[in-house]
Amino acid sequence: MRDQDWRERAMAEAQARQRGGNADEVSVTAEHGVRLEVDGEIATITLDRPEKRNAQTFATWSALARIGESLPEQVRVVVVKGEGPSFSAGIDLRMFTPEGVPGQGSFSSAAKSDDATFEQRISQAQAGFLWLRRPEIVSIAAVQGHAIGAGFQLALSCDLRIVADDVSFCMKEPALGLVPDLTGTKPLVELVGLAKAIDICLTARTVHADEAMRIGLAEKVVARGDLDQAVRDKVAQLLAVNRDAAIATKRLLQGAQGRSLEEQCAAEGLEQAARIKALFG
Ligand code: ACO
Repeated sequence: MRDQDWRERAMAEAQARQRGGNADEVSVTAEHGVRLEVDGEIATITLDRPEKRNAQTFATWSALARIGESLPEQVRVVVVKGEGPSFSAGIDLRMFTPEGVPGQGSFSSAAKSDDATFEQRISQAQAGFLWLRRPEIVSIAAVQGHAIGAGFQLALSCDLRIVADDVSFCMKEPALGLVPDLTGTKPLVELVGLAKAIDICLTARTVHADEAMRIGLAEKVVARGDLDQAVRDKVAQLLAVNRDAAIATKRLLQGAQGRSLEEQCAAEGLEQAARIKALFG
């Protein structure tokens, strides 16, 4: 895609957002390959190109970003799942061809962009993944079958991963000459440690369910047929907790690694003071 095309597309998307497009608008567009259902406090995002193993394009990431921007305020839990046999086979391989993905360009066209345009495009793509960490929600990836490259990174963007016993995670980017750039490197290191993350990424090997559970990539492994129920059970547990306390606690937990013990104690005190005032003041 030419730089001009990228800019026009970004402007059109920004204008659509200003018009106040709601999440349902993006949920039904086949082009995006993404479906959104909101049921009270629960939003379910489904990657919906099973015939292509839920391969992701820039349109997928724009759709995810727009869902994040327009998520109804009452939503407390976001479930991210994939239709069909695979959670997601990663980036659409047409990006590696000279023709690329119709209307979205290719890596060959991206290589000709200036640095600013390129950076802008990458941060637009990352926006589709970043919002899943917001303290106001808990995000759960329900992962079956393949979670490759961008698919693995989407699962890593979620707070929790409940997986089927046929899951196979693979960070394939280095094997294709790329780096994982869809926000997945930080959570991977935080979950499994630097050495294991280097091993997983730099060999592009497959991590199956038993290892995923052992190294902390997955919270729970269930039989494939039990995945939906396992997610429903987790959602029910999460919704049973006081909402404001959950938000404040997630904020504390997310900040813990970047703070000293003393700073974390102070942060706990501040959050607790706010809770006690809200509950008993
Ligand atoms: N992009 C575009 N199309 C894809 C992708 C993809 N990433 N993955 C699968 N498909 C398509 C196949 O071309 C095939 O289409 P067709 O029916 O029109 O021929 C269809 O999905 C089914 O794929 P199969 O390979 O037949 O399915 P199978 O279940 O045997 O294998 C698997 C699934 C292992 C995921 C395999 O398709 C595969 O290796 N895909 C490529 C994975 C990949 O390298 N992704 C890029 C990672 S890097 C990144 O994400 C940045």
